[in-house]
Amino acid sequence: MAANKERTFIAVKPDGVQRGLTGEIIKRFEQKGCQLVAMKLTKASEELLQQHYIDLKDRPFFSGLVQYMGSGPVVAMVWEGLNMVKTGRVMLGETNPADSKPGTIRGDLCIQVGRNIIHGSDSVESAEKEIKLWFKPEELVNYTSCASDWIYE
Ligand code: RTP
Ligand code: MG
Repeated sequence: MAANKERTFIAVKPDGVQRGLTGEIIKRFEQKGCQLVAMKLTKASEELLQQHYIDLKDRPFFSGLVQYMGSGPVVAMVWEGLNMVKTGRVMLGETNPADSKPGTIRGDLCIQVGRNIIHGSDSVESAEKEIKLWFKPEELVNYTSCASDWIYE
């Protein structure tokens, strides 16, 4: 795996947590063969959310987005694996659930773009930025999964 081992930041949004979908989402990443590096239930501050979505600050939905993301707890996670950023995005589906294929998280579990239950980093650079924003270095756990030899050749 060595070359393209990556980490991505995944968050179950407040609607996903409230709807009891956290377990289903974690299950999909575990069953795929991704390795969990960090996880916490947290209520994000407005400052953190504004930083997290800074690239969207001029979009008309920005303030509603920050309000939605701060409306309840989120489950913040770091997952690791081969090409993990791209793989995570494929598992999520499209931003708008209406365009997401069945089999993807958004395609299977939600309906509207403003309540799309999960966030995933869109590039390796964003993932590095987001992991630093949401986690302290000591919250990232390094270990070897006993399954890795059966997941990677
Ligand atoms: P995310 O960052 O949450 O993983 O979503 P994404 O990359 O698929 O999409 P992005 O363009 O980054 O948008 C961030 C979130 O903003 C909300 N949104 N609402 N009302 C709208 O037209 C609209 N467009 C985007 C969604 O919650 C989207 O996930
Ligand atoms: Mg995004």
